[in-house]
Amino acid sequence: MATVLAIETSCDETSVAIVKNREVLSNIVASQIALHQKYGGVVPEVASRQHVETVNEAIAEAVEQGGVSWSQIDAIAATCAPGLIGALLVGLSAGKTLAAYHNKPFLGIHHLEGHIYASYLSEPTLQPPFLCLLVSGGHTSAIAVRGCGEYELLGQTRDDAAGEAFDKVARLLNLGYPGGPIIDKLAQTGNPRAFPLPEGRISLPQGGYHPYDSSFSGLKTAVLRLVQKLEAEGEPLPVGDLAASFQATVAKALTKRAIACAVDYGFETIVVGGGVAANSGLRSHLQAAAGERGLRVLFPPLKYCTDNAAMIGCAAAQHWERGEQSSLDLPARSRLAV
Ligand code: KG4
Ligand code: ZN
Repeated sequence: MATVLAIETSCDETSVAIVKNREVLSNIVASQIALHQKYGGVVPEVASRQHVETVNEAIAEAVEQGGVSWSQIDAIAATCAPGLIGALLVGLSAGKTLAAYHNKPFLGIHHLEGHIYASYLSEPTLQPPFLCLLVSGGHTSAIAVRGCGEYELLGQTRDDAAGEAFDKVARLLNLGYPGGPIIDKLAQTGNPRAFPLPEGRISLPQGGYHPYDSSFSGLKTAVLRLVQKLEAEGEPLPVGDLAASFQATVAKALTKRAIACAVDYGFETIVVGGGVAANSGLRSHLQAAAGERGLRVLFPPLKYCTDNAAMIGCAAAQHWERGEQSSLDLPARSRLAV
C-alpha cells in the first residue's frame, strides 16, 4: 500500500492530492476556469503562470488536509504528458523537486492513465481486464486495459474530441466556457428529439463504417448550420432543444461504439473516464444500453471525472506496487500515446 503525493497541472486545474493506494486522503483542486472564461477557452501561457502561483500552496494544503507527515509519504508523482507543455512543466518540476528534496522515489504519470484509474477510487475491487471509454477535452478513446501498463487503443475520434465538441457547440450558442457542464444543464430543459443530427460515422474503404472510431466535427457543423437557419428565420433560438438534441447525439454515438467494442472484444466491464464522463446524457444512455447487454458500466464520482490529482496518485500507486519509478530526467511531453 503506497501513500503517494500527486500533482496534476496538465491543463487548467492546479491539483495536488494525497492518495493511499485507492483511498483519497486529500484532493485539492484550484480551478483556473474563471481566469480563462473571458477568452472563451484555456490560454496556455496564462495557465502556466497561474500554476506557478498556486502549486506550492496546493501542495501545503494537500499535505495538511491529508493528515500525513512527509515521512509517511512513499513516493511523489506528477503528470508528465500529454497536455499544455508549459503547464505540465510546472507540476513536473515541482514533483521532481519534492522527490529530490525529501529523498523519495518519483513517478511521472500519463494523464490518460490517471483518467483510466479514476474509477479505482470509488471501486476498491475493480481490476483489469476492462474497456475504458476515455472522453475528455482532448481525447475520445476506447482503450483495452489488460493490466497496469498494458493498454491497447481500439477506437478514437478522427477529429474533435467529445469534450471539445461540447465546448465548440457551447461557444456557437454563446453559452460560455467550459461548454460541457452548461450544455448538460440546458439539455435537461429541452427535447432531445427536437432536431435530428448526424452521428458522424467513419466510412471504410471496403464499405460500411468503422465500428469504434468517431467523428464530431460534422456534428458541430450541422449544429452551426441549424443555428444559422433558425436565426435567419428570426425566431429566438430554442437553446434547450438544441443542447438536448446535440447531447443525445453524442451520447448515442459514444454508447454505440463502446458497446460494440466491449462485445466484440469480450469485455464485461466498461469503465468511463474524463470530463465528459460527468455528462448526465451519456451516463443514462450508456448505463441503459449496457444493462440490456448484461455489461457492467462504472462512472467515477463527478469530482474525479474532470482533471484532479487523486486519479494521478492512484495510477502512480499501481506503478509503485510493481516496483517502478521514473528518472528525474523524465521530460514533459505535450503529446504521448498511452
Ligand atoms: O478531463 P477533463 O477535465 O480535461 C481534459 O483532460 O481534457 O475534461 C474537460 C472536458 C471539457 O471539454 C468539458 O467541457 C467537458 O470535459 N465536460 C463535460 C461535462 N463536464 C465537463 N462535457 C459534457 N458534460 C459534462 N457534464
Ligand atoms: Zn483530463
